[in-house]
Amino acid sequence: MKKIGIVALGRYLPAQKLTNADLEKLVDTSDEWIMTRTGIKERRIAASDEKTSDLAIKAAFDALKNSPVKAEDIEAVIVATTTPDSGFPSVACLVQKAIGAKKAFAFDVAAACSGFLYAMTTAKQFIATGMVKNALVVAGDKFTTIVDWKDRNTCVLFGDGAGAAVLSSVTQGGILSDYLIAEGDSAELMGIVPDKVRTPFDQGLEMAKLPYVVMNGQDLFKKAVPGMAEAVRIAAEKAGVNVHDLACVVPHQANDRIIASVAKRAGVDKEKFFINIHKYGNISAASVVVALCEAVEEGRIKKGDKIALVVFGAGLVAAANIIEWSY
Ligand code: ACO
Repeated sequence: MKKIGIVALGRYLPAQKLTNADLEKLVDTSDEWIMTRTGIKERRIAASDEKTSDLAIKAAFDALKNSPVKAEDIEAVIVATTTPDSGFPSVACLVQKAIGAKKAFAFDVAAACSGFLYAMTTAKQFIATGMVKNALVVAGDKFTTIVDWKDRNTCVLFGDGAGAAVLSSVTQGGILSDYLIAEGDSAELMGIVPDKVRTPFDQGLEMAKLPYVVMNGQDLFKKAVPGMAEAVRIAAEKAGVNVHDLACVVPHQANDRIIASVAKRAGVDKEKFFINIHKYGNISAASVVVALCEAVEEGRIKKGDKIALVVFGAGLVAAANIIEWSY
């Protein structure tokens, strides 16, 4: 069986910071509530003329900067996003053009906060079958454009950003196991709900209000904890790895309390979980890959370490991978 792994990582976070103190001026909230309930201190906001594709392209270039695989040798570009610039062209095609990956096919994957692991696992299958040798997987979201800035239940949680990974064959380690799962029965717990749907045939091109993120936070919390703990357990079992031997777990960064509960339920020391939610909030699909990139840069993950990536998001969708780090 071919060994396939991540050979380079990159990220891009917009410069503008939105702190909890800034949010106190927008809605009835407090730094104390946001910190104790979520662990978020600040988040990044893309400029109004900065699109999801701009974030994704910058993250892609950052990954390619240190990559042993060059853009011209990338044969698949997969972008995970639920906030594309528009319905089409895909963000992936815009990334393909920007980096000059002339030989690549390109498409987007929509799996909310689980998007990066859904896209990475998809890319891995193309490499495993021999259809392509190298793939670029990017996750980027600009959630600040779909958040209702008058709704304190959601607007304090999200930020913008992108991360990227180059996937290729490796001689040591690589992605040891994959686990993807969906629970469409709970789809109503979170979505982008338009006040009035665009219906040109019976109402003209009217759209009363832009669609915003709506979610049932408490019920999602209750689903996220067992869902993520179970995903780690199954992925570890598939890889033949004892969870106690994991050097690091990089989780989706939605809520520090969710991460603490997942650690307890999965039986892994919380100290092993990499957390950067205080800096960026929840950046949806980009969350886990940005965190992975920083964990590697900070020396929390070293060559030969066995690690877990685990995510959870609207859909509902969850995923986990066990990786033996290759560089
Ligand atoms: N500031 C102050 N008070 C607030 C705020 C705020 N920003 N938001 C809510 N409150 C209030 C509520 O109105 C409520 O007040 P009440 O008791 O008077 O009614 C009180 O705080 C408690 O509200 P809860 O909803 O019970 O707060 P909870 O502790 O559950 O935290 C949170 C809310 C942070 C949303 C949490 O439930 C959570 O993280 N849920 C999971 C979110 C998630 O994982 N989403 C999926 C991934 S995202 C994706 O897929 C794109």
